[in-house]
Amino acid sequence: MPYQSDYLSKVKTASDFLRPHTEGLNLEFGLTLGSGLGDLAEKIKVTAEFDYSEIPHFPTTTVAGHEGKLIIGKLAGIPVIGLKGRKHFYEVADLPNNEGILQTVFAVHFLAELGVKNYFVTNAAGGLNLDYEVGDLMIIKSHINFLPNPLLGQHFAFTRVDNGQIIERFQPMNGAYDEKLRQKLSLASLEFKKNIHQGTYLAVTGPTYETEAECIAFRDGLKADAVGMSTTPEVIVARNRGMKVVGLSCITNKIAKDGTNATNHEEVKAILESSEVKNRLSTIVTKFFESLY
Ligand code: HPA
Repeated sequence: MPYQSDYLSKVKTASDFLRPHTEGLNLEFGLTLGSGLGDLAEKIKVTAEFDYSEIPHFPTTTVAGHEGKLIIGKLAGIPVIGLKGRKHFYEVADLPNNEGILQTVFAVHFLAELGVKNYFVTNAAGGLNLDYEVGDLMIIKSHINFLPNPLLGQHFAFTRVDNGQIIERFQPMNGAYDEKLRQKLSLASLEFKKNIHQGTYLAVTGPTYETEAECIAFRDGLKADAVGMSTTPEVIVARNRGMKVVGLSCITNKIAKDGTNATNHEEVKAILESSEVKNRLSTIVTKFFESLY
C-alpha cells in the first residue's frame, strides 16, 4: 500500500503507543532539538525515554548529531516531550508517494495527536545577516519555505489541538511564530542581548551548502537572515494543527558579504559542541520555560 494512504492511522498508532506514558501529565510543549542541540535535553527531568525505533512508524534518524530519542519529562517544571533528532527532507527525498515530506513532519503530527499545544523548534543555520556572529542565536520571526509544503497531496482529516475541529486544507501562515512566545524568549535572553537577534529563517533542501549567488539572493533579494535545511515543514504542520510555535536558530557559520559560504558539517557540529554556545542555549531555554508559570 502506498505510504500516504494510511498516514493518518500510522500517526494514530504511533501516538496510541505513547499515550499510556503521558496520561495525566498535561504535556504543554513538544521540543525538537536539532543538530547537536540534543544536549538541551539535559535540562529536562526525564520520567520516560524511548528510541524512535521503539515507536511504531516513527521515522528514525540517520544524521550524525541526531540521536533519535524521545524523552518525556519536566523542563523548569513544565511537562514536555523532547525529540532528540529530526528527519530532514534530504534524507528521504527519494521516497515515492510523498513519503519523504510526510516522514519529515511525522513527529509534529504525532505531538498534535497527543494533544500537545505548543511546539518549540530549534535548528542550526548559516548566518546571512552581516550583523550575526558564529554562536549567536536567532529567534525566528518568520520564514521563507523552499522545501516541499507538507500539506501538498492527499488531504488528511486530522483535528486541531486548539478547538478539535477537522483541519482545513487552506490555512493562513501569518503570525506563524507566536508573538507572545517570542517576547518571552526575548526576555529570557536579556543577559545575552548582543548575541540574540530576531529574524527570518529561509529553508532549502540541502544537503549542499549554498553558492555565492544563492546567498546574495537570499540576503539581499529575499531579506532572509539565516538559512538552514529544516524546520519550515514542521512549522507549517504545527500551525495547521492549531499549535503555537516558537523557534530558535543557532548560527553555526557566517556567510561572507560576497556570499561565500565555506562551511561544512564538521564546522557546524563543532560550534554546537562549544560549551559557550551550549550554556547560552540551555540558560535561555530554561529561563523561557521558567517564565511560563
Ligand atoms: N546553510 C544551510 N544549512 C545550514 C547552514 C548553512 O550555511 N549552516 C547550518 N545549517
